[in-house]
Amino acid sequence: MLIWRRYLMTRSMSTSSSATTIEGLRWWERVGPAPKDPILAVSEAFLADSSPLKINLGVGAYRDDEGKPVILQCVRAAEAKISGTQLLESLSSAASTKLVEDSVQLVYGKDSDIVKERRFTGLQALSGTATTTFGEPAQVPVRTFHYYHPDSKGLHFAAFMDDIKTAPEHSFFLLHPCAHNPTGVDPTEEQWREISHQFKVKNHFPFFDTAYQGLASGDLDRDAKAIRIFHEDGHLIGCAQSFAKIMGLHGHRVGCLSILSVDEKQAIAIRSQLQQIARAMYGSPPVHGSLLVSTILGDPELKALWEEEVKVMADRIIRMRAALRRSLEKLGSCLNWEHITNQVGMFCFSGLSPEQVDQLVREFHIYMTCDGRIRFFHLKLAFELNVFHFLLF
Ligand SMILES: Cc1ncc(COP(=O)(O)O)c(C=O)c1O
Repeated sequence: MLIWRRYLMTRSMSTSSSATTIEGLRWWERVGPAPKDPILAVSEAFLADSSPLKINLGVGAYRDDEGKPVILQCVRAAEAKISGTQLLESLSSAASTKLVEDSVQLVYGKDSDIVKERRFTGLQALSGTATTTFGEPAQVPVRTFHYYHPDSKGLHFAAFMDDIKTAPEHSFFLLHPCAHNPTGVDPTEEQWREISHQFKVKNHFPFFDTAYQGLASGDLDRDAKAIRIFHEDGHLIGCAQSFAKIMGLHGHRVGCLSILSVDEKQAIAIRSQLQQIARAMYGSPPVHGSLLVSTILGDPELKALWEEEVKVMADRIIRMRAALRRSLEKLGSCLNWEHITNQVGMFCFSGLSPEQVDQLVREFHIYMTCDGRIRFFHLKLAFELNVFHFLLF
């Protein structure tokens, strides 16, 4: 705002219009290109590659056997149901409240008391990305914690717990409750209980970023277990939900931010703060996607259909994991590939080094993020993996 005012002052003080024009042309002189986004850079390089053999394993979205996006039947049915609806206005406050309630029930369970007791607040936000960025105005110092162990390609539980114990009291932790991105490594139920206990000891705040509920195990309730353990233990919880992957609605940007509070009074105050941040960030969210989500969550038949379709996607990913591991073992690799089936969700953290990833791009036109994260996309790939052969020994 200050910069804008200065600009207006400079303009009004300027005597000749040609001087204003030349000055105006200098606005962007010092702007250099931003560093490339690691995921978008993979897609750009893939698009620029003219090889017919190219494969892009970098995109974080579910794909069918042809590598195409999948449109769920429940989404098609919801589209038919809302067709003709007037979509030019923002969602009514009652409709967005319903969407938040349905989303919260998905996380905490349909029998959870928090909706009845009105001990939560929330609002629709722009998919997972914007939903997780609501805390950014706080400008608190950010630190990372241990999680993944490169040797075991699993959870580094001891180091993770140590970081929880040594973090300053009242720290805010961003956690993935299931199908961790990018590692595919989740704590066990027992480990979540220990984590939750230690959070209580240190009065830390758990904020869950959940973008894959159902895609880890095929069961929406099971994949919400981590959050429910924290809830049972009496934590106040923040949760960012994305419907991009679990409903195949990437382009619609539907998400939900919810916060548990002690009582309704707190919930109302928190909501007013969240609304103020949302107002400055994006005003109000788009309508079409949220109507699709609320139609699916609010209709028992469509919801049941969606749950079946989530299970189909999750089961297929589980089969692809097994097939990939089998293929690599059949090639006679002396390496251990158990992590492929131990990890869960849409990604396999392959353990390939940045150099190996580079080699795969150059020699085989196989694209993935430089940390070696692979997104599963078709069974055929698992059997074509002899291209990985040269890396295995
Ligand atoms: C854990 C997690 N949260 C949030 C997001 C962002 O998702 P969205 O596409 O809904 O913005 C992703 C995307 O990869 C993710 O993996």
